[in-house]
Order: sequence, then structure tokens, then C-alpha cells
Amino acid sequence: MADKAVLAYSGGLDTSVAVKWIRERYGLDVVTFTVDIGNVPDMEAIRQKALNSGAVDAVVADAREEFITDFVFPSLKADAVYEGEYSLATAIGRPLIAKLLVQVARDKGAVAVAHGCTGKGNDQVRLDVGVGTLAPELRIIAPAREWGLTREELINYANENSIPVPVTKKSPYSIDENLWGRSIETGVLEDPWSEPPADVYLWTKDPSEAPDTPAYVEVEFEGGIPVALDGARLSGVKLVETLHAIAGEHGVGRVDHVENRLVGIKSREIYEAPAATVLLKAHAALQHLVMTKDQLRFKAHVAGTYSDIIYNGLWFGGLRRNLAAFVDSTQEFVTGTVRVKLFKGNCTVVGRKSPFSLYDFGLATYDKGDTFNQSDSPGFIRLWGLPNRIQARAQADAGK
Ligand code: ARG
Repeated sequence: MADKAVLAYSGGLDTSVAVKWIRERYGLDVVTFTVDIGNVPDMEAIRQKALNSGAVDAVVADAREEFITDFVFPSLKADAVYEGEYSLATAIGRPLIAKLLVQVARDKGAVAVAHGCTGKGNDQVRLDVGVGTLAPELRIIAPAREWGLTREELINYANENSIPVPVTKKSPYSIDENLWGRSIETGVLEDPWSEPPADVYLWTKDPSEAPDTPAYVEVEFEGGIPVALDGARLSGVKLVETLHAIAGEHGVGRVDHVENRLVGIKSREIYEAPAATVLLKAHAALQHLVMTKDQLRFKAHVAGTYSDIIYNGLWFGGLRRNLAAFVDSTQEFVTGTVRVKLFKGNCTVVGRKSPFSLYDFGLATYDKGDTFNQSDSPGFIRLWGLPNRIQARAQADAGK
């Protein structure tokens, strides 16, 4: 019996060809592994396809709850958004896939894991680093990084080896999707000056065709985690899916971004992330109600680093765990409800409340009931501005 490799299998042409290619090139039997994190409509069809492509075994798993609970919500609590634009759907899915690949490899006694990533992107880094951290003994094979086949040659290879080739026309884009969002690149999108054609978008309505009346959604958080929509408690997966449908209908969550890949390339990517857009905004708004200015400033700094860690494939490193401990300690009082208005592509927070609110009406009001002592201000201002006055005087004396 030959040694085994576990291949992360999507059912597409590349990974189908990879089954045979790994057998030929490395003499390994291939067990495929397909995981649903909100991207697999028909598991059984994929399983059959894997077996028809020559896999000795085809394992499938539904990891949607784990994805939301252990990866998406921690990154939501951290306010993780790469370069201020990308809510990291693809990136946050990779460490989970790496972890499960390792699990299956150990279950099956495999000596290697394999994936279909090319040598130009971030995903190869995330999977290789993830697997290498969790299971350094496993060999990593990335056929698409090694074989240098064009699409034409791939199809020929498939035909020669009786690997089923998809009959449907290939999408002009490279697409990756999961519960947290959809990433679209290549084709005409490679010109950063050209506006994305309408067919790029699948989850969000064109804002100009969105309903003429806004939708309002109330998102309830407990300890930084969204637990209910409009008063109805929902599981993480259900909550994200529900919000996804409402926000997508109103054209919310489209992003067009030229981003900095870890491997040094600038790439133009389109994202659709309706639920993520709403939840990140609502979560931030609630934090502004319950956290002090200093906490907010420091946490924003952590968010930048946390986002880079996710993007750059270092999820299983010590710094991510250290920062997660800080983030968790900031979330204890992030409990309350945020009211969001969805209208023609915009997502606007229009209300927030919390039992731990730091907002004091008496201090804020300009009307009756004012409790702020305005005579405290002049002395405070004299001391606050003292360094500036001293400096101006000194430097004026120096002729500056
Ligand atoms: N640029 C995104 C990232 O590195 C998405 C990558 C996958 N995109 C795709 N269209 N296949 O996380």
C-alpha cells in the first residue's frame, strides 16, 4: 500500500487534476478533504467527483459553526479589517482549513497534505504556515505551484486521464467564498481603472436597484458577540446568513480594493461582505458607547496588528493568542443593542444602547438637567495648553 496525501479538494478542475498528478509525481495515494464553511452547496456531488478523479477516499465535513465561533467571531471582536477595507473572509478561513487538513492527515495516517494554491497568492502562505505550525512532520505539496500547466494543458491532462472536466463555462473570475464574504479577482478586474462589471456581484444588489425604503435591523451583542437580530436569538451561522440576505438585498457590503499581498504584489480585489459589513460597524458603534477613549485608541492599534496577523497567515502564532487575550478582556462589557439602517448600499448606525453605557445624558446635554460644572473648564484649559504656551514663548525668543 502506498503512502497517503490528504488533498484540500474543491471539486474544481485544478484540484481534480491534482489527484492524479500527485499519484504520478509523488507515488502517493490521495485522500481528498472538502470542508463546508459556507461555500459547498452539494457535498455528495463533490465526494463522487473526487472518487471519479481517482481519490482512494473522499472525506467531507461541515465546519460552519466552528468557523463562525472560533475564527469569525474572534476576528469580529478584534475589529479585524485589512487595510481598512477587507473584512478578511478568505484569510480567516485558511487556518481552519489547515487545522482540519492536519486532523484528517493524522486520522488517515498520511505523510503529506496538499492544496491547490498557486505560488503567487497569500493562501499558499496561510495553509503552509498553518500546517507547518500544527504538524511540522507533514510534507506539503502544492501542485499548482509546481506543475506550471496552462488551463489548456490542464484540460488535456484531464481528458487523457479520464478526469471529469466541468462542462459549464468557466467563470471569467477567480472566486473564493465562505460565510463571512466573497472574494473576486482576475479577468477584467486586473485593470484597476476599469469599473467592475455587474456580473462580478452575486450576493449584493446594485445599490441603484435596491429598495426605495430602508430596512432597519437591531443587532444584539453579548460580550462582543452578536446573539440576536430584531429580538430573535440565533446561532452564529443563522445570524450571519440572515443578515447576509437582508443587507445584500439593500446593496450593502461591496468593496473594491487594491491591496498589498504578503508576497509583495499589489492586487485588485472585489469583495462582497454584507453581513460582515453590518456586524463590524455595529460592533464598533457599541464599543464606542461602552469603552473609554484610551481603551478605544489602544484597541484600534491592536486591530491593525491583529488584521495583519490574519492576513499574513500567522493565526497559530503566539502573538495572535496574546492579542486575543487582550481583545477578550476588552469585550466583557460589550453588551447591548445597535440599530442599523440599510439603504441603497449604505449601512448606517442610527442607534445604540447598553446596560454598561458610559454615555451620561446629564454631562452631555445643553438643555435642562445639565450636571457638568462649566467653571471647572478654564483651570483645566490653562494647564492643558501650558506646554504649547511655554514652547511658543521659548521659540519666539529664539527667533523661530
Ligand atoms: N485577496 C484575498 C486574500 O488574500 C482573497 C484571495 C482569494 N481570492 C480569490 N478571488 N480567489 O485574502
